[in-house]
Amino acid sequence: MSDKAILQYQDKTFEFPVIKGSENELAIDIKTLRAQSGMITIDPGYKNTGSCESAITFLDGEKGILRYRGYSIEDLAEKASFIEVVYLLIFGELPTKVQLEDFQKDIVAESHVDEEMKKILDGFPKSAHPMGVLASLTSALISFNPNSVNVSSDKEMYAAIVRIVAKFPVLVAWTMRKKKGLPLDYGDDSLSYVENIHKMMFKKPSQEYTKNKVIIDALDKLLILHADHEQNCSTSTVRIVGSSHAGLFASLSAGISALWGPLHGGANQAVLEMLEAIEADGGDTKKYMAKAKDKNDPFRLMGFGHRVYKNFDPRAKIIKKAADEVLNNLGIDDPILAIAKGLEKEALEDQYFVDRKLYPNVDFYSGIIYRALGIPTEMFTVMFALGRLPGWIAQWKEMRENNEPIGRPRQVYVGENFRDFIPVENR
Ligand code: SDX
Repeated sequence: MSDKAILQYQDKTFEFPVIKGSENELAIDIKTLRAQSGMITIDPGYKNTGSCESAITFLDGEKGILRYRGYSIEDLAEKASFIEVVYLLIFGELPTKVQLEDFQKDIVAESHVDEEMKKILDGFPKSAHPMGVLASLTSALISFNPNSVNVSSDKEMYAAIVRIVAKFPVLVAWTMRKKKGLPLDYGDDSLSYVENIHKMMFKKPSQEYTKNKVIIDALDKLLILHADHEQNCSTSTVRIVGSSHAGLFASLSAGISALWGPLHGGANQAVLEMLEAIEADGGDTKKYMAKAKDKNDPFRLMGFGHRVYKNFDPRAKIIKKAADEVLNNLGIDDPILAIAKGLEKEALEDQYFVDRKLYPNVDFYSGIIYRALGIPTEMFTVMFALGRLPGWIAQWKEMRENNEPIGRPRQVYVGENFRDFIPVENR
């Protein structure tokens, strides 16, 4: 007998099936709620509402667990490469050696971006925020890849996926070089996916590109840690835009814009700016803690708190450890890291944060590593988008393959009741 939930309202009783996920999560299936009762639910921010059943990523916010397709984030960050995780998230399994080689070959074959796209990049002022440039360039890619819009077969879906996995890093590199006033650089087919990203971003016109294993490993790990996170704001955006059967690139462009917000992916930039402000303020963390707790002050401790994690964000733990390793290996002594650790210690001992279960999230330490790698602060959220690309693709693909209906929430109207029109001369 399947589980049921009963809703009692006035003299009526309504029954709804309860579904159980593979990790024993329970959900009340209210697909028939309005038909049965004439009522809807309301849940600002969807804090208690599931939008879909998904087989891609599992989070346990209470236990601080994160798994991609069943593999723990700790294992993947330690043992996998980012391109393997890209394949895992999108196609559901870790690739065999042959599958990985074929996937990489297909990506290399699609890694050029139409030269005409540079005219669009040239149209932006140098002061443009890289996230706005990236969202625009991603949308502009549609015009140069029209057959990646309607993906009605597995073959078309695979071709569109390979195209964006191959071209997105070029757009990311272009946004950075535009910002830094450097000439655009082409990729090198002999390099690995992440080495190529680093080369396109950093190779100086006057020098040969030299690999740095510490930097490449750090970048690879950071991209893995950002690769997917179930139904977060930007992924839900990608899904709902895709649910209207808008193309993959258009859906990704919308996701980039959602990620840009400082409450979401934009937090990594806001964290660094906050830490730099604290440093400029003589390291006075107590002042910023007080501001974060002051309800009359809009300031929030950026990089702290999470909708799902009410325990440590497992990614933050891994990134914090990596920050120490990378800065040591690169011989960098960044006072900002000490300020971040001091702030974390204070917050974890502060009743306000303890009561609200506010822990460091993925954005709290990531910027310290990006900074050590020479990435400008305004590019931090672009790096988040680069990592999140495979997750967005995997979630979009799952939504389309499951033939999910167009996303169209209802509302409770609280405006004016009917009233007669008043001609302007009588108003
Ligand atoms: C990401 O969803 C995901 O999975 C996202 C992400 C991903 O991988 O995709 O993990 C990436 O976006 C991480 C979060 C990055 N954002 C920040 O670091 C910005 C700072 N954090 C917050 O703004 C906040 O914690 C959110 C947005 C992350 C979560 O907000 P919620 O779940 O809506 O919680 P809330 O705003 O209702 O806060 C609950 C309470 C409130 O206090 P009370 O009204 O109960 O007194 O906690 C307080 C908030 O004021 N609070 C904070 C705080 N975060 C929450 N107070 C001070 N500083 C903070 N950072």
